[in-house]
Amino acid sequence: MDLKHSIDKNNVPRHVAIIMDGNGRWAKQQGEDRIFGHHEGVNSVREVVEACGEIGVKFLTLYAFSTENWNRPKEEVDALMELLVATISLETPNLNKKGVKLQVIGDILSLPPSCQAELQESINITAANSTVTLILALSYSSKWEITNAVKEIAKQVEEGTLKSQDITSKNIEKHLNTSAWPDPELMIRTSGEHRISNFLLWQLAYAEFYFTDTLWPDFRKQDFFKAILAYQNRERRFGKTSEQISQN
Ligand code: IPE
Ligand code: IPE
Ligand code: MG
Repeated sequence: MDLKHSIDKNNVPRHVAIIMDGNGRWAKQQGEDRIFGHHEGVNSVREVVEACGEIGVKFLTLYAFSTENWNRPKEEVDALMELLVATISLETPNLNKKGVKLQVIGDILSLPPSCQAELQESINITAANSTVTLILALSYSSKWEITNAVKEIAKQVEEGTLKSQDITSKNIEKHLNTSAWPDPELMIRTSGEHRISNFLLWQLAYAEFYFTDTLWPDFRKQDFFKAILAYQNRERRFGKTSEQISQN
């Protein structure tokens, strides 16, 4: 059965964030190199982006490469960077056709110049699209992002343009890479790991978490819809009582 039809159109998260994990283990299971798993993972990305368009998720943030992932073997890092360039260049027409706008967060200047150029080109080509905003987290970590925000705010205080007592959470949010978008209501992690791995620590403060044992290259539209349905069965209380929520 297509789970899409069971989704309540009035309660679709605006923003979904995904930790795409398990490519390496998936490849090992097939007796292949870890890189093969990363290649296969691209198909899952394509499906999930499409699924977002179908049900009306407006923002999709995908954790594609963390600050800590730079510590992997050089061959794997190089292959991931190459895959990124090749995929972006290959998929841009398809993104454009589907009305997908590409954006990035993370320490983009640390990526190889060819990656930066490919990303910038795709960002420019898709800039006017509005069906889904696809945000790739690349060379990203939340502690890196928050540290930068603190530095920028401290500089304003130093220069006298901001008083320390005027610092608010809104003000901090303005200095995060994600300032243009609402916080994710749902965070999905594949591969059975139950951790956040330095991803959107601030922005996930009140997100619902969904964990699945499915490895990322096996994650398909129906798996995504299943996660959305699980989200729709949660009661989001934001500190209030269940009674207060049901009265509204
Ligand atoms: C996720 O899959 C992709 C990246 C982190 C780039 P992994 O490569 O972490 O796969 P596992 O967790 O080793 O199976
Ligand atoms: C998190 O996956 C980063 C990405 C999915 C890009 P990892 O596989 O690197 O996470 P840990 O280190 O096992 O927590
Ligand atoms: Mg992993």
